[in-house]
Amino acid sequence: MSTPEIDVRGLHKSFGDNEVLRGIDLEIGSGEVVCVIGPSGSGKSTLLRCVNLLEEPTKGQVFVAGAEVTDPDVDIDAVRRRIGMVFQQFNLFPHLSVTDNLTLPQRRVLGRDKAQAAEVAADNLRRVGLSEKAEAYPASLSGGQQQRVAIARALAMGPQVMLFDEPTSALDPELVGDVLAVMRRLADEGMTMMVVTHEMTFAREVADRVVFMDGGVIVEDGTPEQVIGNPRHERTRHFLSRLLDPAMADVEEEISDQVGKSEQPPN
Ligand SMILES: Nc1ncnc2c1ncn2[C@@H]1O[C@H](COP(=O)(O)OP(=O)(O)OP(=O)(O)O)[C@@H](O)[C@H]1O
Ligand SMILES: [Mg+2]
Repeated sequence: MSTPEIDVRGLHKSFGDNEVLRGIDLEIGSGEVVCVIGPSGSGKSTLLRCVNLLEEPTKGQVFVAGAEVTDPDVDIDAVRRRIGMVFQQFNLFPHLSVTDNLTLPQRRVLGRDKAQAAEVAADNLRRVGLSEKAEAYPASLSGGQQQRVAIARALAMGPQVMLFDEPTSALDPELVGDVLAVMRRLADEGMTMMVVTHEMTFAREVADRVVFMDGGVIVEDGTPEQVIGNPRHERTRHFLSRLLDPAMADVEEEISDQVGKSEQPPN
């Protein structure tokens, strides 16, 4: 692989004496799409937040597009300009129109003039299929539309990589598809993407790699076919069965408990 677009080396992160990331190594190549899955509390969001330095790692290094994010002398604003981030909550400015939501950060952070910023905004609204909402206010949009505006806003900054933290988990089920379709198109266009998600169909169809995290470490890292289709570790199998059918996972657990008991030698 040529220089990875995202390179995480020996990353540790503690909150007080709670060690949340316990040695993460992860390389993501240019144009690669990596989905990160794992149970609640396993450190997925913390990992994403360390990549753009919303959290400061306790130990280890992070490089984005060849620049060390964790270098104490780094120009963090310059680094963040290369990284687009989309959260579960869309965080749009409610008092600004869709266009102004897209132009404001371009003007403030990149110093683009009004006309330039408006042109880039229009291009990116077209990219997410929302040209007709340019003058609308966020409150008049569905959750799925708001999330697509948030994606367009991130894209308007011209990022080299995009990080997504459960971008569809706050949405009503019928709105999820449109957001995933936009992300799929972005992947097809060659964007480097790191996506924390529970959408296994998306992970299977769009991801080049799936990373399963548990307890602050990467347990499995491979193709979707390997990690979702044929997981090597019991922890991964357990997580996936629970995700696909929570009721069945409990039954399975009960059965394996009982099998375990009956296998013990009588005394
Ligand atoms: N700012 C913080 N201060 C203290 N503890 C934190 C902070 N952020 C996260 N944690 C703790 O770190 C652990 C991992 O949290 P994180 O949000 O990374 O998990 P996650 O895998 O994203 O979970 P979820 O699927 O629920 O979003 C949790 O135990 C959480 O309580
Ligand atoms: Mg999270």
